[in-house]
Amino acid sequence: MWKGRFSQPTADLVQRYGESVSYDWRLYKHDIAGSIAHAGAQVKAGLLTEEEFQAIKTGLESILADIEQNNFTWSQELEDVHMNIESELTRRIGAPGAKLHTARSRNDQVATDTRLYCRAEIDDIIERARNLQRSLVGKAKQYADTMMPGYTHLQRAQPVTMGHHLLAYVEMLARDVSRLEDARKRLNISPLGSGAIAGSTICLDRRDIADELGFADVTENSMDAIADRDYIMETLFDLALIGAHLSRMSEDIILWCSSEFGYVTLSDAHTTGSSLMPQKKNPDVAELTRGKTGRLYGNLTAVMVAVKGLPLTYNRDLQEDKEPLFDSIDTIKLALDVNAEMIAAMTVNVETALAAASDPMLLATDLADYLVRNGVPFRHAHELVGKAVALSVQTKTPLNELTDEQYAEISDHYGSDTKSVFNLTKAFAQRTNPGAPNPENTQRRIAYWEARLV
Ligand code: ARG
Repeated sequence: MWKGRFSQPTADLVQRYGESVSYDWRLYKHDIAGSIAHAGAQVKAGLLTEEEFQAIKTGLESILADIEQNNFTWSQELEDVHMNIESELTRRIGAPGAKLHTARSRNDQVATDTRLYCRAEIDDIIERARNLQRSLVGKAKQYADTMMPGYTHLQRAQPVTMGHHLLAYVEMLARDVSRLEDARKRLNISPLGSGAIAGSTICLDRRDIADELGFADVTENSMDAIADRDYIMETLFDLALIGAHLSRMSEDIILWCSSEFGYVTLSDAHTTGSSLMPQKKNPDVAELTRGKTGRLYGNLTAVMVAVKGLPLTYNRDLQEDKEPLFDSIDTIKLALDVNAEMIAAMTVNVETALAAASDPMLLATDLADYLVRNGVPFRHAHELVGKAVALSVQTKTPLNELTDEQYAEISDHYGSDTKSVFNLTKAFAQRTNPGAPNPENTQRRIAYWEARLV
């Protein structure tokens, strides 16, 4: 492609070092769409005849079909997806193929391709995230009223329901989806026409090309457009954050399915055994999700570091954006799918969860609230309950089995109805504010998500 200036062929090692076609071939669909739109604009500018345009279009479409049927030979000497396709086009249709690259550089071409690629993948990932949400909502509905302990510091804190707990992940995923939608808006702008750095003396209608490709607008600064990889980092961040959420969910599931907790049972199809210990049933999907989140962070970090020292505009370092991007996209798609399946097939052990939630200590805060209702300032109430807790621990008597006299000895603010606090159903019913785990809120939120996730 640049033989005019050179008297030696590129060294074999340099070719191997610099090629990207072994992975960027994936951009073929977008590369071809971009080229057809670019050729269309050349017709309008009088640079291509209608016949030449048709030859280019048909030629590119036949290349597209061959690639999709695995009938295309990619060549390392041609370095990347862009040169592979262009060179094959010229081989197939002759002269008009050599006109295609007018007023375009691989710099604006690769930026166009990767924006189109991110846009399509974001749409796909949003669908998969919604599918996981659906699976979580289904499970939340099935166990909406299943009581279990909620934890802070991984110490039993207050009672919650499995429904409420699972819906927490649905909320996280909703933010993830909205972040992706937001990133999509920002990246859906056409850089094509920015050329190598400074546009071109041959002015094609950039807006026309943008319209053709479904871009909402065109970039406003050719240098920024060439150098910009914000959209890749932003996408990688959004995916890393989905990873963070899935990883936290994984950790909960790993704990819940241990013998120590025993709140859930994963299906045989979504667990693995041990080659040595016959009794083992391991939550590998959750562990892998937790582990792969490290990769998602690594991919984000790799691109952020690659970009940070680069002078404007294009530098070959930018080619290093693709493998991390592809890897994060592949990783998150599979993670979303397999987690949706695993959650759908998970059983909650209602009795075990209820038994753990029935620990009266979980209602110590409710007891303090009871005292507040009797006119005790909260800080003082906290102390009076603390004393009851200490007595319960000392005498090895559950908090709800201390006698009325023992409570009265601690404070006369404890009335004869003190122990009516130790009622889980009541404890949930009293939490009427939005966001609290009372069964009505949970039902309302399930209905909300069911309507939104169709
Ligand atoms: N394969 C290159 C990349 O991914 C395409 C752009 C090449 N541009 C250049 N001036 N060498 O970044």
